[in-house]
Amino acid sequence: MKHLTVIAHPNPESFGSSLVKELYNHLIDKGDEAHIRNLYQTGFNPVLSSEDFSSFADNRTPNDIKTEQEYIKWADHVIFVYPVWWGGMPAILKGYIDRVFAEGFAYEYTANGVNGLLSPRKGSVICTTGESSENYKKIHDAMRVISSEVIFKFVGMEPYKQLFYGAVPSVSNEVRASYIQNVKEEF
Ligand SMILES: Cc1cc2nc3c(=O)[nH]c(=O)nc-3n(C[C@H](O)[C@H](O)[C@H](O)COP(=O)(O)O)c2cc1C
Repeated sequence: MKHLTVIAHPNPESFGSSLVKELYNHLIDKGDEAHIRNLYQTGFNPVLSSEDFSSFADNRTPNDIKTEQEYIKWADHVIFVYPVWWGGMPAILKGYIDRVFAEGFAYEYTANGVNGLLSPRKGSVICTTGESSENYKKIHDAMRVISSEVIFKFVGMEPYKQLFYGAVPSVSNEVRASYIQNVKEEF
């Protein structure tokens, strides 16, 4: 299996960044292929511009978008990893989806409605929160709907795992280690 992990975290020393490294090592150790795209490290421009729209219309996809689309094409499984910021994903990841999951690449409009173009890929999400998972149940449920229905199913991807790890800044190192262990067990 080919896994593409897209991480949106500005701090390379954060829990989320360690989780991504551990997940990568785990996937390689079990004989799978893996790539990490770190949006802050590559300086991905998340603003979908009017130039982008005219480029898409003329079939001239901007190079930074094309690069990311090649990674998506390569992958069987795309995993988004991010800290929850104001109940959703950081703006840089939202902008990545706006620009990379473009019409013509990720979906098309037909006489019969929307046709997702990224099947049979799977899509997963790993999120960390400041709030405990107990307090955040309602928000997690809402976020699951956005990831599965609004993003993955729209582009023809099969929603796979949606993992939430709560109270990351307040729990002990042991609990944080158990979160990473759980991620490895899930994949
Ligand atoms: C801008 C910003 C917004 C945040 N919004 C939320 C939020 O809506 N809900 C929540 O539970 N935690 C929120 N947090 C806390 C982060 O989700 C939490 O610190 C992070 O997931 C911990 O993982 P990390 O150590 O890898 O950053 C926010 C943090 C920041 C910086």
